[in-house]
Amino acid sequence: MSAELKDKAARAALECVEDGMRLGIGTGSTADAFIRALGEKVAAGFRVIGVPTSERSAALCRELAIALTTLEETPELDLAIDGADEIDAALNCIKGGGGAHLREKIVASAARRFVVIADDTKLVKTLGAFPLPIEVVAFGMGATRRRLDRIAEAHGLEPAFTLRQKDGVPVRTDSGHVIFDASFGRIPDPEGLAASLDGCVGVVEHGLFLNMAERAFLAGATGVAELTADRA
Ligand code: 5RP
Repeated sequence: MSAELKDKAARAALECVEDGMRLGIGTGSTADAFIRALGEKVAAGFRVIGVPTSERSAALCRELAIALTTLEETPELDLAIDGADEIDAALNCIKGGGGAHLREKIVASAARRFVVIADDTKLVKTLGAFPLPIEVVAFGMGATRRRLDRIAEAHGLEPAFTLRQKDGVPVRTDSGHVIFDASFGRIPDPEGLAASLDGCVGVVEHGLFLNMAERAFLAGATGVAELTADRA
């Protein structure tokens, strides 16, 4: 996605932010665009306080003098804004391409409203073309991997898990865990898979964000589309 589209989606979401709000602040290049746009408003006198979802986002917020807090000090947030790797029409998402989905899910769950920003190429019919990030405790990861294989098979999915690495060593998340990326291709039953992963010993968090987003701003060639979740 071009930087211009990221910026457009970010600025559209900024309209949801009101003076004095307690914000959850996402991670990734689109979230960075949001943080920069928010920084401009803060420099002009807008007051917000934010919980960042990664050390990277925290550093950018500090650079832009955006006031930060923690979920210990501020356990309830008004609004969380974050990017996504895939989003479907019901606003279910795959997140974690940037490896921050554990903190992202904790922060989004602490917020009354969760808004997603992305470009419209991330809108999919069925989740799963983007490899699903699964954060696991490093201790015993071989045994956890076997349990993941069995979960995939039980769901009729290819057990195609890759340990995320950089420069030949496993990537460690901000919380010190490792990530298996699951190349399922498509996930026909995200709710069922999420329930199985939630119950898997050794799994800390997966990147399925189901029934969480209330709204998405998706930037494309013809403008920014605003999608809302139809959840009665
Ligand atoms: C990080 C995430 C990001 O929101 C997701 O990877 C999208 O990133 P980008 O805006 O750079 O495409 O989930 O863990």
